[in-house]
Amino acid sequence: MAQARALLGYLLLGLGLALPGDPAGRFWHVTDLHLDPTYHITDDHTKVCNSSKGANASNPGPFGDVLCDAPYRLILSAFDFIKNSGQEASFMIWTGDSPPHVPVPELSTDAVVKVIANMTVTIQSFFPNLQVFPTLGNHDYWPQDQLPIATSQVYDAVADLWKAWLDEEALSTLRKAGFYSQKVPGNPNLRIVSLNTNLYYGPNAVTLNQTDPAHQFEWLENTLTSSQQNKEKVFLIAHVPVGYLPQSTGITAVRQYYNERLVALLRRYSAVVAGQFYGHMHRDSLMVLSDGEGRPVSSLFVSPAVTPVRNVLEKETNNPGVRLFQYNPGDYTLLDMLQYYLNLTEANLKGESNWKLEYSLTQTYGVGDLRPQSLYGLAKQFATPDSKQFVKYYNYFFVSYDSSVVCDEKCKALQICAIMNLDRASYSGCLQQHLGERRP
Ligand SMILES: *[C@@H]1O[C@H](CO)[C@@H](O)[C@H](O)[C@H]1NC(C)=O
Ligand SMILES: *[C@@H]1O[C@H](CO)[C@@H](O)[C@H](O)[C@H]1NC(C)=O
Ligand SMILES: *[C@@H]1O[C@H](CO)[C@@H](O)[C@H](O)[C@H]1NC(C)=O
Ligand SMILES: *[C@@H]1O[C@H](CO)[C@@H](O)[C@H](O)[C@H]1NC(C)=O
Ligand SMILES: *[C@@H]1O[C@H](CO)[C@@H](O)[C@H](O)[C@H]1NC(C)=O
Ligand SMILES: [Zn+2]
Ligand SMILES: [Zn+2]
Repeated sequence: MAQARALLGYLLLGLGLALPGDPAGRFWHVTDLHLDPTYHITDDHTKVCNSSKGANASNPGPFGDVLCDAPYRLILSAFDFIKNSGQEASFMIWTGDSPPHVPVPELSTDAVVKVIANMTVTIQSFFPNLQVFPTLGNHDYWPQDQLPIATSQVYDAVADLWKAWLDEEALSTLRKAGFYSQKVPGNPNLRIVSLNTNLYYGPNAVTLNQTDPAHQFEWLENTLTSSQQNKEKVFLIAHVPVGYLPQSTGITAVRQYYNERLVALLRRYSAVVAGQFYGHMHRDSLMVLSDGEGRPVSSLFVSPAVTPVRNVLEKETNNPGVRLFQYNPGDYTLLDMLQYYLNLTEANLKGESNWKLEYSLTQTYGVGDLRPQSLYGLAKQFATPDSKQFVKYYNYFFVSYDSSVVCDEKCKALQICAIMNLDRASYSGCLQQHLGERRP
C-alpha cells in the first residue's frame, strides 16, 4: 500500500503534481556551488575560466564546462528549477563551498566573502521566505582550508550575511567558530546541527594535533544530550563528511583521529540523529553507520555538487545536481530522496537548461524508505556479485555523467567498504575480506 502510494506519488511528481493530503515534509539540499565569476565564452579556451588553471576548457557552453567551476548562469538555472519545481519545501540546507578552485593568490578574504555574499543574496532573491540552513566549506575561507578555531573576519561576515536565517544563539557560535544549532520553524522538535568539520580536515594546519578544536566535540555532545532530554530529533549537516573516501584505499575525509571520535559520538546519539547530510565530495554517495554489534543505526547522504568541475587529470566528473528529501513530519524519519540533475552537454547544445529528475531513491532501488535498516539492506544487495543495483549506484555516483563507466572488482570493494564501514577497525576488516589486505 505504502509502495503503491509512493509509486502514484512518483508518477504525479513527474507531472509536477502532489497527492491530495500528502503528509510528507520536504527540504532541499544544495551544495558546492563554486561560482567562477571569470567564466566567459572566448575562442582561446585557456582563457574561458580561471578555475581551469591554464588548461583548455573542453567544450565550453553557456551553462559551463567540465574543466571550469560554475558560471553564474548555471547557478541561476539550478535555483530557478527549484523555485518552479512545484515542491513545497519547509527549508533548505546549503552545505558550503561557494568560491572557485583557483590558486590561493587569485583570491583574498575580501574575494571569498564577496562570493559567499553573492550566493546568499542570490538564494534570498529566489526564496525570500524560505528558511535556509547554511554551513561553511573548506573553500569558504582564505587561504582555503585554514578555517580557524576563534573568531575571524569570515565568521563575522557570514554571521552578518545569514542574519535573516539564523537566531541570536546560532549567530553567536557561528561568529566564534563557524558552527551552530537551531530549531526548525514549523517543525516541532526538529533541530539542525551545523557542524564545522573543516576544523577536522587534513589540510587545515590550524588544528594540527588539537584534541578538540574550538571545543566543538564538547559542544556537539552537550547539544545532542540536550536534544535527547528534550525529545528532539536532529538533522546533522556539515561540509566535509565523516567516513572513508570511496575512491581511495583507507583514507578518511577528515583526519583519522577526528573520524574515530565523530563515529563514536554519532553511534552514541544515533537515536537522536535522524539523518546526516554532507557535501564536499562533489559525487553522490550513501553511507550507513553501524553500531559496535554491526546493527545499522544511522543514514548518511553525500550530495553531488552544482559545479561540474574536474581536475584536468581526472576522467570522470559529475553533472550538476540538487536534491530534495521527504520526511515524516511526525517523527522525522526520512522517506525518500529525489535527485535532480542537469545534463550539461545537452544544456550547452540546446542553449537551455532542462533540469530533470535523475532518480527517486526508493523507486530506483525498490526500498521502502531511507531508514538505516533499509539502506543497510540495499548496501548488502550492492555487495553481491554482478549486482545491477550497484551498476545504477555507480552511474548515479557521477550524476549520470557517463553511463559507460565501469567499476572493476577493486573499485567496487572500495565503494562497498566505504558505504558500510565508517570506523577504522570495521573498514580495515572489510578491505581484508574483499581484497585480502589489511590497511591502513
Ligand atoms: C553575482 O556574481 C555574478 C557573476 O559575477 C554577477 O553577474 C552578479 O551580478 C552578482 N550578483 C550579486 C547579487 O552580487
Ligand atoms: C590549447 O589548445 C590550443 C589549440 O588547440 C593548443 O595550441 C594549446 O597548446 C592548448 N593549450 C594547452 C595548455 O593545452
Ligand atoms: C584570472 O587569471 C588572469 C590570468 O592569469 C589574471 O590576470 C586575473 O587576475 C585572474 N582573475 C581573477 C579574478 O583572479
Ligand atoms: C604535531 O605533533 C607531531 C608529532 O607529535 C609533531 O612532530 C609536530 O611538530 C606537531 N605539530 C604542531 C603544529 O604542533
Ligand atoms: C546527455 O545529453 C547528451 C547529448 O544530448 C546525450 O548523448 C547523453 O546520453 C545524455 N545523458 C543522459 C544521462 O541522458
Ligand atoms: Zn567543493
Ligand atoms: Zn569542499
